[in-house]
Amino acid sequence: MAELSRRKILISGGTLGALGALGLTPPAEASQTPWTWSARGSVAGSGAGTDPRWVWDEEADALVASLIDRGDVPEVNRLLWDWNRNDQPLPDGLPADLRDFMERARRLPSWADRGKLETAADFNKSRGLYLNLLNGVGGGMLSTAIPKEARAVYYSKGGADMEDRVAKTSILGFAVGSLNAYRPDGSCVVEAVKTRLVHAAVRHLLRQVPHWPYGIPISQEDMLVTWHTLPTFAMRKMLEWKVPISSADSAAYLHVWQVTAHVLGIKDEYIPSSWDEAYAQSDQVLPRNMGPTPEGVALTDILLDQLAEQTSPGSISRPLCNALARYLVGDQVADWDGIEREPVWDPLISSAWPKLVRFREGLIPLPLVPQIAWVIDEAVRQYIMFFLTKGKETKIEIPTTNRPG
Ligand code: HEM
Repeated sequence: MAELSRRKILISGGTLGALGALGLTPPAEASQTPWTWSARGSVAGSGAGTDPRWVWDEEADALVASLIDRGDVPEVNRLLWDWNRNDQPLPDGLPADLRDFMERARRLPSWADRGKLETAADFNKSRGLYLNLLNGVGGGMLSTAIPKEARAVYYSKGGADMEDRVAKTSILGFAVGSLNAYRPDGSCVVEAVKTRLVHAAVRHLLRQVPHWPYGIPISQEDMLVTWHTLPTFAMRKMLEWKVPISSADSAAYLHVWQVTAHVLGIKDEYIPSSWDEAYAQSDQVLPRNMGPTPEGVALTDILLDQLAEQTSPGSISRPLCNALARYLVGDQVADWDGIEREPVWDPLISSAWPKLVRFREGLIPLPLVPQIAWVIDEAVRQYIMFFLTKGKETKIEIPTTNRPG
Protein backbone atom coordinates (compact mmCIF):
# COMPACT_ATOMS: atom_id res chain seq x y z
CA MET A 1 0.00 0.00 0.00
CA ALA A 2 2.91 2.29 -0.79
CA GLU A 3 0.75 5.09 -2.18
CA LEU A 4 -1.22 5.51 1.03
CA SER A 5 0.44 8.51 2.58
CA ARG A 6 1.04 8.54 6.28
CA ARG A 7 -0.97 11.73 6.62
CA LYS A 8 -4.01 10.19 4.98
CA ILE A 9 -3.83 7.08 7.10
CA LEU A 10 -3.63 9.32 10.15
CA ILE A 11 -6.70 11.18 8.97
CA SER A 12 -8.71 7.98 8.71
CA GLY A 13 -7.34 6.58 11.98
CA GLY A 14 -8.18 9.82 13.73
CA THR A 15 -11.69 9.70 12.35
CA LEU A 16 -12.17 6.19 13.65
CA GLY A 17 -11.11 7.39 17.08
CA ALA A 18 -13.52 10.30 16.86
CA LEU A 19 -16.53 8.09 16.15
CA GLY A 20 -17.21 7.54 19.82
CA ALA A 21 -17.31 11.28 20.34
CA LEU A 22 -19.95 11.50 17.63
CA GLY A 23 -22.06 8.95 19.47
CA LEU A 24 -21.63 6.41 16.68
CA THR A 25 -20.75 2.79 17.04
CA PRO A 26 -17.50 1.86 15.34
CA PRO A 27 -18.17 -0.35 12.32
CA ALA A 28 -16.62 -3.49 13.80
CA GLU A 29 -18.96 -3.40 16.79
CA ALA A 30 -21.92 -2.27 14.75
CA SER A 31 -21.49 -5.33 12.53
CA GLN A 32 -22.70 -7.50 15.42
CA THR A 33 -26.24 -6.11 15.18
CA PRO A 34 -28.78 -8.76 14.12
CA TRP A 35 -30.67 -8.79 10.83
CA THR A 36 -34.26 -7.85 11.50
CA TRP A 37 -35.53 -6.56 8.13
CA SER A 38 -38.40 -8.83 7.15
CA ALA A 39 -38.71 -10.56 3.78
CA ARG A 40 -42.39 -9.60 3.93
CA GLY A 41 -41.20 -6.18 2.78
CA SER A 42 -39.39 -7.65 -0.23
CA VAL A 43 -40.51 -8.07 -3.83
CA ALA A 44 -40.76 -11.82 -3.08
CA GLY A 45 -43.11 -11.12 -0.17
CA SER A 46 -41.57 -13.92 1.88
CA GLY A 47 -38.24 -15.64 2.45
CA ALA A 48 -36.16 -17.73 4.77
CA GLY A 49 -35.04 -14.67 6.70
CA THR A 50 -31.39 -15.71 6.49
CA ASP A 51 -28.98 -12.95 7.47
CA PRO A 52 -27.69 -11.68 4.09
CA ARG A 53 -24.18 -11.34 5.50
CA TRP A 54 -23.92 -15.10 5.11
CA VAL A 55 -25.46 -15.45 1.67
CA TRP A 56 -23.57 -14.94 -1.59
CA ASP A 57 -24.52 -16.11 -5.11
CA GLU A 58 -23.99 -19.87 -4.92
CA GLU A 59 -24.73 -20.77 -8.51
CA ALA A 60 -22.71 -18.00 -10.18
CA ASP A 61 -19.88 -18.38 -7.67
CA ALA A 62 -19.39 -22.11 -8.26
CA LEU A 63 -19.64 -21.65 -12.02
CA VAL A 64 -17.16 -18.78 -12.34
CA ALA A 65 -14.69 -20.40 -9.93
CA SER A 66 -14.77 -23.41 -12.21
CA LEU A 67 -14.32 -21.25 -15.35
CA ILE A 68 -11.27 -19.62 -13.77
CA ASP A 69 -9.82 -22.95 -12.66
CA ARG A 70 -10.42 -24.47 -16.10
CA GLY A 71 -8.64 -21.52 -17.74
CA ASP A 72 -11.76 -20.70 -19.79
CA VAL A 73 -12.11 -17.02 -18.85
CA PRO A 74 -9.95 -15.36 -21.57
CA GLU A 75 -11.91 -17.14 -24.30
CA VAL A 76 -15.23 -16.35 -22.57
CA ASN A 77 -14.26 -12.66 -22.40
CA ARG A 78 -13.33 -12.73 -26.07
CA LEU A 79 -16.68 -14.26 -27.01
CA LEU A 80 -18.68 -11.90 -24.77
CA TRP A 81 -16.89 -8.78 -26.10
CA ASP A 82 -19.48 -8.42 -28.86
CA TRP A 83 -22.46 -9.42 -26.74
CA ASN A 84 -23.94 -5.95 -26.27
CA ARG A 85 -27.71 -5.86 -26.68
CA ASN A 86 -30.48 -7.15 -24.45
CA ASP A 87 -32.09 -9.04 -27.33
CA GLN A 88 -28.86 -10.47 -28.76
CA PRO A 89 -28.44 -14.24 -28.69
CA LEU A 90 -25.47 -15.46 -26.70
CA PRO A 91 -22.43 -16.06 -28.88
CA ASP A 92 -21.62 -19.56 -30.09
CA GLY A 93 -18.77 -21.35 -28.39
CA LEU A 94 -19.49 -20.49 -24.74
CA PRO A 95 -18.98 -23.39 -22.33
CA ALA A 96 -22.30 -25.22 -21.98
CA ASP A 97 -22.63 -24.63 -18.22
CA LEU A 98 -22.03 -20.90 -18.63
CA ARG A 99 -24.47 -20.62 -21.52
CA ASP A 100 -27.12 -22.45 -19.55
CA PHE A 101 -26.63 -20.13 -16.56
CA MET A 102 -26.59 -16.96 -18.65
CA GLU A 103 -29.77 -17.91 -20.51
CA ARG A 104 -31.56 -18.07 -17.15
CA ALA A 105 -29.74 -15.08 -15.62
CA ARG A 106 -30.72 -12.76 -18.47
CA ARG A 107 -34.46 -13.34 -18.05
CA LEU A 108 -36.33 -10.51 -16.38
CA PRO A 109 -38.17 -11.51 -13.19
CA SER A 110 -41.87 -12.36 -13.48
CA TRP A 111 -42.68 -9.20 -11.48
CA ALA A 112 -40.92 -6.87 -13.98
CA ASP A 113 -43.35 -4.28 -15.30
CA ARG A 114 -42.61 -2.96 -18.79
CA GLY A 115 -44.76 0.11 -18.29
CA LYS A 116 -42.86 1.12 -15.17
CA LEU A 117 -39.54 0.52 -16.89
CA GLU A 118 -40.58 2.91 -19.66
CA THR A 119 -41.65 5.56 -17.12
CA ALA A 120 -38.32 5.11 -15.35
CA ALA A 121 -36.46 5.71 -18.58
CA ASP A 122 -38.21 9.08 -19.03
CA PHE A 123 -37.56 9.97 -15.41
CA ASN A 124 -33.87 9.07 -15.75
CA LYS A 125 -33.68 11.35 -18.75
CA SER A 126 -35.43 14.35 -17.19
CA ARG A 127 -33.48 14.01 -13.95
CA GLY A 128 -30.25 12.86 -15.58
CA LEU A 129 -28.05 15.60 -14.21
CA TYR A 130 -29.01 15.00 -10.59
CA LEU A 131 -28.91 11.23 -10.96
CA ASN A 132 -25.52 11.18 -12.61
CA LEU A 133 -24.09 13.52 -10.00
CA LEU A 134 -25.61 11.54 -7.14
CA ASN A 135 -24.79 8.10 -8.49
CA GLY A 136 -21.41 9.02 -9.98
CA VAL A 137 -19.78 11.42 -7.55
CA GLY A 138 -22.06 10.76 -4.54
CA GLY A 139 -22.16 6.97 -4.96
CA GLY A 140 -18.40 6.91 -5.56
CA MET A 141 -17.67 8.83 -2.38
CA LEU A 142 -20.03 6.61 -0.38
CA SER A 143 -18.54 3.40 -1.77
CA THR A 144 -15.08 4.36 -0.51
CA ALA A 145 -16.55 4.77 2.98
CA ILE A 146 -17.75 1.15 2.92
CA PRO A 147 -14.72 -0.73 4.27
CA LYS A 148 -15.54 -4.07 2.65
CA GLU A 149 -16.12 -2.49 -0.74
CA ALA A 150 -13.10 -0.18 -0.53
CA ARG A 151 -10.86 -3.14 0.26
CA ALA A 152 -12.42 -5.33 -2.41
CA VAL A 153 -11.94 -2.62 -5.03
CA TYR A 154 -8.45 -1.73 -3.84
CA TYR A 155 -7.11 -5.29 -3.92
CA SER A 156 -8.89 -6.47 -7.07
CA LYS A 157 -7.50 -6.06 -10.56
CA GLY A 158 -9.34 -2.82 -11.28
CA GLY A 159 -7.98 -1.20 -8.11
CA ALA A 160 -4.69 -0.57 -9.88
CA ASP A 161 -6.31 1.49 -12.63
CA MET A 162 -9.13 3.47 -11.12
CA GLU A 163 -9.85 5.45 -14.25
CA ASP A 164 -10.62 2.29 -16.18
CA ARG A 165 -12.49 0.87 -13.20
CA VAL A 166 -14.72 3.96 -12.89
CA ALA A 167 -15.32 3.94 -16.64
CA LYS A 168 -16.32 0.27 -16.46
CA THR A 169 -18.61 0.79 -13.51
CA SER A 170 -20.23 3.73 -15.22
CA ILE A 171 -21.13 1.44 -18.16
CA LEU A 172 -23.79 -0.15 -15.97
CA GLY A 173 -24.83 3.19 -14.48
CA PHE A 174 -25.37 4.73 -17.88
CA ALA A 175 -27.14 1.59 -19.13
CA VAL A 176 -29.64 1.81 -16.24
CA GLY A 177 -30.17 5.50 -16.92
CA SER A 178 -30.54 5.25 -20.69
CA LEU A 179 -33.84 5.52 -22.53
CA ASN A 180 -33.66 2.00 -23.89
CA ALA A 181 -32.33 0.42 -20.67
CA TYR A 182 -34.50 -2.71 -20.68
CA ARG A 183 -35.79 -2.44 -24.23
CA PRO A 184 -34.56 -5.03 -26.75
CA ASP A 185 -31.98 -2.60 -28.13
CA GLY A 186 -30.75 -1.55 -24.67
CA SER A 187 -27.88 -3.05 -22.73
CA CYS A 188 -28.89 -3.18 -19.06
CA VAL A 189 -29.41 -6.93 -18.96
CA VAL A 190 -26.09 -7.55 -20.69
CA GLU A 191 -24.10 -5.29 -18.37
CA ALA A 192 -25.83 -6.55 -15.22
CA VAL A 193 -25.29 -10.21 -16.12
CA LYS A 194 -21.63 -9.50 -16.94
CA THR A 195 -21.29 -7.69 -13.60
CA ARG A 196 -22.80 -10.68 -11.81
CA LEU A 197 -20.07 -12.83 -13.36
CA VAL A 198 -17.37 -10.28 -12.40
CA HIS A 199 -18.55 -10.28 -8.78
CA ALA A 200 -18.47 -14.08 -8.72
CA ALA A 201 -14.89 -13.95 -10.02
CA VAL A 202 -13.93 -11.38 -7.36
CA ARG A 203 -15.34 -13.67 -4.63
CA HIS A 204 -13.10 -16.45 -5.88
CA LEU A 205 -9.99 -14.36 -6.54
CA LEU A 206 -9.79 -12.11 -3.50
CA ARG A 207 -9.59 -15.08 -1.19
CA GLN A 208 -6.30 -15.88 -2.91
CA VAL A 209 -4.74 -12.57 -1.77
CA PRO A 210 -2.09 -13.64 0.77
CA HIS A 211 -3.44 -13.15 4.30
CA TRP A 212 -6.86 -11.88 3.05
CA PRO A 213 -8.59 -11.67 6.45
CA TYR A 214 -12.01 -10.46 5.39
CA GLY A 215 -13.77 -13.70 4.44
CA ILE A 216 -15.74 -14.13 1.23
CA PRO A 217 -16.40 -10.68 -0.24
CA ILE A 218 -19.55 -9.28 -1.86
CA SER A 219 -22.23 -10.97 0.26
CA GLN A 220 -25.89 -10.28 -0.40
CA GLU A 221 -25.72 -7.68 2.37
CA ASP A 222 -22.71 -6.01 0.75
CA MET A 223 -24.66 -5.81 -2.50
CA LEU A 224 -27.65 -4.29 -0.71
CA VAL A 225 -25.39 -1.70 0.92
CA THR A 226 -24.03 -0.61 -2.45
CA TRP A 227 -27.52 -0.68 -3.95
CA HIS A 228 -28.72 1.75 -1.25
CA THR A 229 -25.85 4.13 -2.03
CA LEU A 230 -27.32 4.35 -5.53
CA PRO A 231 -31.14 4.64 -5.81
CA THR A 232 -31.98 5.05 -2.12
CA PHE A 233 -29.36 7.72 -1.56
CA ALA A 234 -30.32 9.49 -4.79
CA MET A 235 -34.03 9.49 -3.97
CA ARG A 236 -33.44 10.77 -0.46
CA LYS A 237 -31.21 13.56 -1.75
CA MET A 238 -33.63 14.62 -4.48
CA LEU A 239 -36.41 14.81 -1.89
CA GLU A 240 -34.11 16.80 0.39
CA TRP A 241 -33.41 19.18 -2.51
CA LYS A 242 -37.18 19.45 -3.04
CA VAL A 243 -37.01 18.19 -6.61
CA PRO A 244 -40.66 17.63 -7.56
CA ILE A 245 -41.17 13.91 -8.29
CA SER A 246 -44.55 12.39 -9.14
CA SER A 247 -45.56 9.17 -7.39
CA ALA A 248 -45.52 7.35 -10.75
CA ASP A 249 -41.95 8.50 -11.38
CA SER A 250 -40.87 7.61 -7.88
CA ALA A 251 -42.33 4.10 -8.18
CA ALA A 252 -40.82 3.64 -11.64
CA TYR A 253 -37.36 4.73 -10.52
CA LEU A 254 -37.51 2.22 -7.68
CA HIS A 255 -38.68 -0.44 -10.10
CA VAL A 256 -35.83 -0.08 -12.58
CA TRP A 257 -33.40 -0.56 -9.70
CA GLN A 258 -35.37 -3.51 -8.30
CA VAL A 259 -35.11 -5.24 -11.67
CA THR A 260 -31.42 -4.35 -11.88
CA ALA A 261 -30.82 -5.77 -8.40
CA HIS A 262 -32.44 -9.03 -9.50
CA VAL A 263 -30.34 -9.32 -12.66
CA LEU A 264 -27.21 -8.50 -10.63
CA GLY A 265 -27.92 -11.57 -8.50
CA ILE A 266 -29.53 -10.01 -5.43
CA LYS A 267 -32.17 -12.45 -4.23
CA ASP A 268 -35.79 -11.34 -4.44
CA GLU A 269 -36.32 -11.89 -0.72
CA TYR A 270 -33.88 -9.06 0.00
CA ILE A 271 -35.04 -6.57 -2.65
CA PRO A 272 -37.24 -3.91 -1.01
CA SER A 273 -40.79 -3.72 -2.38
CA SER A 274 -41.34 -0.01 -1.62
CA TRP A 275 -39.39 3.11 -0.76
CA ASP A 276 -40.40 2.82 2.87
CA GLU A 277 -39.01 -0.70 2.95
CA ALA A 278 -35.89 0.53 1.15
CA TYR A 279 -35.33 3.32 3.68
CA ALA A 280 -35.83 0.91 6.58
CA GLN A 281 -33.40 -1.61 5.11
CA SER A 282 -30.89 1.10 4.24
CA ASP A 283 -31.02 2.41 7.81
CA GLN A 284 -30.29 -1.07 9.06
CA VAL A 285 -27.42 -2.04 6.75
CA LEU A 286 -25.62 1.22 5.99
CA PRO A 287 -24.55 2.28 9.49
CA ARG A 288 -23.14 -1.14 10.29
CA ASN A 289 -21.20 -1.27 7.05
CA MET A 290 -19.72 2.19 6.81
CA GLY A 291 -16.58 3.70 8.21
CA PRO A 292 -13.03 4.76 7.37
CA THR A 293 -10.23 2.66 5.94
CA PRO A 294 -6.80 3.65 4.58
CA GLU A 295 -7.84 1.99 1.30
CA GLY A 296 -11.01 4.07 1.14
CA VAL A 297 -9.06 7.26 1.79
CA ALA A 298 -6.60 6.40 -0.97
CA LEU A 299 -9.35 5.57 -3.47
CA THR A 300 -11.25 8.76 -2.62
CA ASP A 301 -8.14 10.79 -3.29
CA ILE A 302 -7.74 9.18 -6.71
CA LEU A 303 -11.43 9.65 -7.56
CA LEU A 304 -11.41 13.33 -6.60
CA ASP A 305 -8.23 13.94 -8.55
CA GLN A 306 -9.97 12.41 -11.55
CA LEU A 307 -12.99 14.62 -11.08
CA ALA A 308 -10.73 17.68 -10.96
CA GLU A 309 -8.69 16.59 -13.98
CA GLN A 310 -11.60 15.62 -16.17
CA THR A 311 -13.09 19.03 -16.26
CA SER A 312 -11.47 21.73 -18.35
CA PRO A 313 -8.33 23.18 -16.75
CA GLY A 314 -9.03 26.14 -14.55
CA SER A 315 -12.79 25.70 -14.52
CA ILE A 316 -12.84 23.43 -11.53
CA SER A 317 -10.15 22.90 -8.98
CA ARG A 318 -9.52 20.11 -6.56
CA PRO A 319 -10.77 22.26 -3.64
CA LEU A 320 -14.05 22.77 -5.47
CA CYS A 321 -14.30 18.99 -6.06
CA ASN A 322 -13.63 18.37 -2.39
CA ALA A 323 -16.39 20.78 -1.45
CA LEU A 324 -18.84 19.26 -3.95
CA ALA A 325 -18.13 15.77 -2.63
CA ARG A 326 -18.51 16.88 0.99
CA TYR A 327 -21.76 18.62 0.17
CA LEU A 328 -23.17 15.48 -1.45
CA VAL A 329 -22.25 12.92 1.20
CA GLY A 330 -22.19 15.06 4.35
CA ASP A 331 -19.48 15.69 6.92
CA GLN A 332 -19.36 12.28 8.51
CA VAL A 333 -18.70 10.32 5.32
CA ALA A 334 -16.44 13.08 3.96
CA ASP A 335 -14.32 12.85 7.11
CA TRP A 336 -14.17 9.06 6.84
CA ASP A 337 -13.01 9.49 3.25
CA GLY A 338 -10.31 11.94 4.35
CA ILE A 339 -11.74 14.73 2.17
CA GLU A 340 -10.16 18.02 3.17
CA ARG A 341 -12.37 20.80 4.47
CA GLU A 342 -12.51 23.82 2.16
CA PRO A 343 -13.23 27.01 4.09
CA VAL A 344 -13.90 29.01 0.92
CA TRP A 345 -15.75 26.45 -1.21
CA ASP A 346 -17.75 24.48 1.38
CA PRO A 347 -20.14 27.34 2.24
CA LEU A 348 -20.31 28.48 -1.39
CA ILE A 349 -21.46 25.09 -2.64
CA SER A 350 -23.98 24.50 0.09
CA SER A 351 -25.58 27.82 -0.65
CA ALA A 352 -25.32 27.77 -4.46
CA TRP A 353 -26.44 24.20 -5.24
CA PRO A 354 -29.97 24.38 -3.75
CA LYS A 355 -30.52 27.61 -5.69
CA LEU A 356 -29.42 25.94 -8.91
CA VAL A 357 -31.87 23.11 -8.26
CA ARG A 358 -34.71 25.53 -7.57
CA PHE A 359 -33.92 27.48 -10.71
CA ARG A 360 -33.91 24.27 -12.76
CA GLU A 361 -37.27 23.34 -11.31
CA GLY A 362 -38.71 26.74 -12.23
CA LEU A 363 -39.06 27.77 -8.61
CA ILE A 364 -36.79 30.84 -8.63
CA PRO A 365 -35.76 33.24 -11.42
CA LEU A 366 -32.28 33.34 -12.94
CA PRO A 367 -30.99 36.49 -11.22
CA LEU A 368 -31.13 34.70 -7.89
CA VAL A 369 -28.75 31.97 -9.05
CA PRO A 370 -25.16 32.85 -8.11
CA GLN A 371 -22.58 32.66 -10.89
CA ILE A 372 -20.66 29.89 -9.13
CA ALA A 373 -23.65 27.56 -9.59
CA TRP A 374 -22.92 27.45 -13.34
CA VAL A 375 -19.33 26.46 -12.71
CA ILE A 376 -20.60 23.48 -10.73
CA ASP A 377 -23.22 22.71 -13.35
CA GLU A 378 -20.63 22.73 -16.13
CA ALA A 379 -18.18 20.64 -14.12
CA VAL A 380 -20.83 17.99 -13.53
CA ARG A 381 -21.62 17.91 -17.24
CA GLN A 382 -17.99 17.51 -18.21
CA TYR A 383 -17.54 14.76 -15.67
CA ILE A 384 -20.52 12.87 -17.02
CA MET A 385 -19.41 13.36 -20.63
CA PHE A 386 -15.92 12.16 -19.83
CA PHE A 387 -17.14 8.88 -18.39
CA LEU A 388 -19.71 8.44 -21.15
CA THR A 389 -16.87 8.68 -23.65
CA LYS A 390 -14.55 6.50 -21.60
CA GLY A 391 -17.29 3.95 -21.11
CA LYS A 392 -17.57 3.56 -24.88
CA GLU A 393 -13.90 2.59 -25.11
CA THR A 394 -14.04 -0.22 -22.61
CA LYS A 395 -16.14 -3.24 -21.65
CA ILE A 396 -16.90 -5.16 -18.50
CA GLU A 397 -14.73 -8.27 -18.43
CA ILE A 398 -14.32 -11.14 -16.00
CA PRO A 399 -10.98 -10.75 -14.18
CA THR A 400 -8.60 -13.66 -13.73
CA THR A 401 -6.17 -11.93 -11.36
CA ASN A 402 -6.13 -9.53 -8.43
CA ARG A 403 -4.35 -6.19 -8.24
CA PRO A 404 -0.80 -6.80 -9.35
CA GLY A 405 2.01 -6.48 -6.84
C1 HEM B 1 -17.08 -4.74 -10.54
C2 HEM B 1 -21.42 -2.65 -10.12
C3 HEM B 1 -21.65 -4.25 -5.57
C4 HEM B 1 -16.88 -4.99 -5.73
C5 HEM B 1 -18.27 -4.13 -10.83
C6 HEM B 1 -18.68 -3.72 -12.15
C7 HEM B 1 -19.87 -3.09 -12.03
C8 HEM B 1 -20.25 -3.15 -10.64
C9 HEM B 1 -20.69 -2.45 -13.14
C10 HEM B 1 -17.92 -3.98 -13.43
C11 HEM B 1 -16.85 -3.01 -13.65
C12 HEM B 1 -15.50 -3.60 -13.59
O1 HEM B 1 -15.28 -4.71 -14.07
O2 HEM B 1 -14.61 -2.93 -13.06
C13 HEM B 1 -21.89 -2.97 -8.87
C14 HEM B 1 -23.24 -2.73 -8.39
C15 HEM B 1 -23.32 -3.21 -7.12
C16 HEM B 1 -22.00 -3.72 -6.79
C17 HEM B 1 -24.32 -2.04 -9.21
C18 HEM B 1 -24.48 -3.27 -6.17
C19 HEM B 1 -25.70 -2.94 -6.45
C20 HEM B 1 -20.35 -4.51 -5.20
C21 HEM B 1 -19.91 -4.79 -3.85
C22 HEM B 1 -18.57 -4.99 -3.88
C23 HEM B 1 -18.16 -4.85 -5.28
C24 HEM B 1 -20.82 -4.84 -2.65
C25 HEM B 1 -17.60 -5.31 -2.79
C26 HEM B 1 -17.90 -5.46 -1.53
C27 HEM B 1 -16.53 -5.02 -7.05
C28 HEM B 1 -15.19 -5.29 -7.52
C29 HEM B 1 -15.25 -5.22 -8.91
C30 HEM B 1 -16.62 -4.92 -9.26
C31 HEM B 1 -13.98 -5.55 -6.64
C32 HEM B 1 -14.10 -5.22 -9.92
C33 HEM B 1 -13.34 -6.34 -10.27
C34 HEM B 1 -12.05 -5.91 -10.95
O3 HEM B 1 -11.47 -4.92 -10.57
O4 HEM B 1 -11.64 -6.57 -11.87
N1 HEM B 1 -19.26 -3.80 -9.93
N2 HEM B 1 -21.18 -3.55 -7.87
N3 HEM B 1 -19.26 -4.56 -6.04
N4 HEM B 1 -17.37 -4.81 -8.12
FE1 HEM B 1 -19.27 -4.24 -7.99
